[in-house]
Order: sequence, then structure tokens, then C-alpha cells
Amino acid sequence: MSEADFGGTSSEEFLRFPDDFLWGVSTAAHQVEGGNCNQWSDWEQAGRIKSGESCGKACDWWENAERDFDIARDLGLKALRLSLEWSRIEPEEGHFDAQALTRYRQMLEALHERGIEPIVCLHHFTHPRWFEKRGAFLRPDAPKFFERFAREVAKAVGNLCRLWVTFNEPNVYAACGYVVGEFPPGRKGELLNALRVNSIQAQAHVLAYRAIHELVPDAQVGWAQHYVVFEPVRGILDRWAASLLDRFFNNAFFELIEDGRLAFPLGMLGGHEREAKGCCDFVGLNVYSRLHVAFDLRYVSTLFTNIFVPGHVPQGDRGVEKPYGEAYPQAVVRAVKRASKLGKPIYIMENGVPDAEDRIRPWLIVNVLRELHGLIEQGHDIRGYLHWTLTDNFEWNEGWKLRFGLVALDPDTQDRTMRSSAKLFSEIVRSNQLADPTSDKYSLLSKTAP
Ligand code: BGC
Repeated sequence: MSEADFGGTSSEEFLRFPDDFLWGVSTAAHQVEGGNCNQWSDWEQAGRIKSGESCGKACDWWENAERDFDIARDLGLKALRLSLEWSRIEPEEGHFDAQALTRYRQMLEALHERGIEPIVCLHHFTHPRWFEKRGAFLRPDAPKFFERFAREVAKAVGNLCRLWVTFNEPNVYAACGYVVGEFPPGRKGELLNALRVNSIQAQAHVLAYRAIHELVPDAQVGWAQHYVVFEPVRGILDRWAASLLDRFFNNAFFELIEDGRLAFPLGMLGGHEREAKGCCDFVGLNVYSRLHVAFDLRYVSTLFTNIFVPGHVPQGDRGVEKPYGEAYPQAVVRAVKRASKLGKPIYIMENGVPDAEDRIRPWLIVNVLRELHGLIEQGHDIRGYLHWTLTDNFEWNEGWKLRFGLVALDPDTQDRTMRSSAKLFSEIVRSNQLADPTSDKYSLLSKTAP
């Protein structure tokens, strides 16, 4: 790509992004709406949130998402990704709630009124209780239920949305729910089931992809893939362990969409979804961390790998029981290079760090964007960057312990306070450039966890 394509000059001190680059934030229904009744509400009631907290009103979006949409507009954001909660839309099997769909229409209209493009995601970890009870994505007939839901949504809001994400992070959903047991249904060590879940989700993705295209002809439909850099500590066994994780976690879903099947030897376990081959208009990437990996026979459920975060690496706040991950801006380089092999446009759909004091977030934002700018200059077709997230929200099994917002939220009072990174991000978005990426003000003030 030439400098002219960037709409201006490009030098070390002045990194301009393409004119139509989509700047925004990502959110998820259960984390922001409050008052949901889905399999995660059951998980919460069963006491499975590590902090012992509950989601409560979350960011109160069901009643008042518009308050945060105003903030997004004031920051100059151009896009906001939100998910539509399946359990609100189809609370009982086959019964669709017109009022819920009306509220979602209102939200998407409210975004358009503020000059913000909505990006709709259909599954961000949560679904109705009835769907969970019947086995969720382990059941071979799950795709037809997902397709029916996708159709209802496309009929209701299709004219308000261009970019669609079928699944958020099928790899995280399967790994956390079936391998490490930290998400519902809380099963551990079931690697084969995790792969089965992913291959059924790939079928569901195909059906939803076709349904959305049928109803919204100019839609762009993709999915959002979580990508982690697995860094081997030393020798051959650690390298083998890291490559195994890379295969299962980073690559399996990519392979299903790239080739319509899992590559050898995983392909021998099933996972032939021929129809999935090439079935996406873009790839969404969610990129957060680097994790360090050592081969260790004691860790049976995670393929004999000890996955950890050394204390000395840059990182945000710790979770309830363990560190969140190394904040590693170069992770986007690895993720984009992998995703580019599909030959589709790429959106960074999530990137961020848990950081209540904003110690490290400005550094992360600037350095990730510098990497992205370099990738665009090399010719990678990156169309946008969405930060995770706008306002602190309910962080799944960590409860309110981890704060990812550009804006701080007190969930009890619902008071919002702008963090300095909100101002920084807003300046970047408005100017469409990184003005001074090497400046000291983006250096790491305190690298390690407090
Ligand atoms: C998920 C978000 C989550 C974020 C921070 C992503 O993997 O999509 O829902 O809040 O990570 O942990």
C-alpha cells in the first residue's frame, strides 16, 4: 500500500491511518445490559464467579444504553460492537419476544443517530437456558436453532447493520467451558468435546452466514477469533507444548473456515465442515496477551502444559486467582499474519488490558496501533480497530475485579469517570493518526502487576 492510500505522509512521528479506518469499541450483551436470564446467570447463582460478585445491573444498558452511546459519540468513535442477547430474543424455544427486538432496534437506531456504526454479534458466550439444557453446541442439531435465531434478528434489524459477527471467540467458549472448566458448563479436560463444539459452531456459522446474506444482501459476515501468543520457555519439549496449544486454541477454528476441515492429525477426530470453507467476508481478531508455556506432566487437562505469566513482564491488573496475561503489543502482528492467510479483510475486534489505574493502557494502545500501522504499510488489509471496552463491565468469572474500560464505572452508583486513555484514544480517532508514538508520555510507568 502506498503512502497516498493513507491519505497523508507517514513517518516515525506521524502515523496516519487509512481514511475510512473504522475506530471503535466492543461490548457484549451480558457484560453490559444487566438483568439477563441465561446460562451465565445460572453460573453466577451457583456461586461460580471467583470474586463472589454478581452482574447486577451491569452498565444498565437494557434501560439506558444511550448514556454510554453519548459518551462514545463525544469521544468521536465511529463504530460500536454489541451483541444481541439470544435469551432475551428467544426466552422459550420457538417464542420470539417482539419487545426485545424492538429495544435492540432502538439501540441500533440510537447509534446511527450519533453517527456510530453498529456491529452486531449474535453469540458472545451466552444463550438461553433451554438451549444450554439441551446440550448447547454439543448437539448436532444446534446449528438449526442458531440459524432460526439469526434469521429473526436479521429480519428485525437487518436494515440497520452492515457488519455481522456470528460467534465471538468460539475457541474461548469451547476451551473455557470444556477444557479448563471456568465457564459454563464447567467441564474439564474434554478436549474432544471442545473440538466437537467448535465444529458444530462452524456449521452454525455457515447457516447464519447464509441466512443473513439472504435477508441482508449487502451484509458483511464474519466471526471473531481470539488469538494468544504461546511462548515456549526454552527447549524442545516446551516448544512442542506451545505448538500444541497453538494448534488447538489458535488454529482449529481458522482451519475449519480456511479449509472446511481440521488439518492432520486433528482431522482424524472429525471436524469435516466442507461447507464452511471460505465462508466469511472478514476475519475479526480479538488479541490481548502472550502466555508463557512449559511442558509439565502434572498438567493433564491442558495437554501437559503449564501456562503462566512471569512476574517481570508488562501486565495489567491481576485476576482473583492468577495474572490475566502479559500485555504484548506484538501479539497483533502474529495474529494478523495468521489471519491474512485467509485472504479476507481483517478487523481488530477486541484489544485491551485490565487496568483500573490506567498505568499501562495508554502504552498498550499506542504500541498496538504502531504495530497495526506497520502491518497496513506492509499490505495487510486491516480495516478497523475496536478497543475492549468503552465502560468497565462485568468480566465473566472474574466479576468486577478486572476493569477494561476507557471509562471507569462504579456499578453501585452507575457513576462514570473518564480515564486518561479515553482522552488519548479520542485524540487518535479524531485525528486518524498517531501523532507522537515515541513520546515519553506513552512509556510504561509501572510494568508489572501492582
Ligand atoms: C472476551 C470479552 C472479555 C475480554 C476481556 C475477550 O476474550 O470476548 O468478553 O471481557 O476478553 O477478558
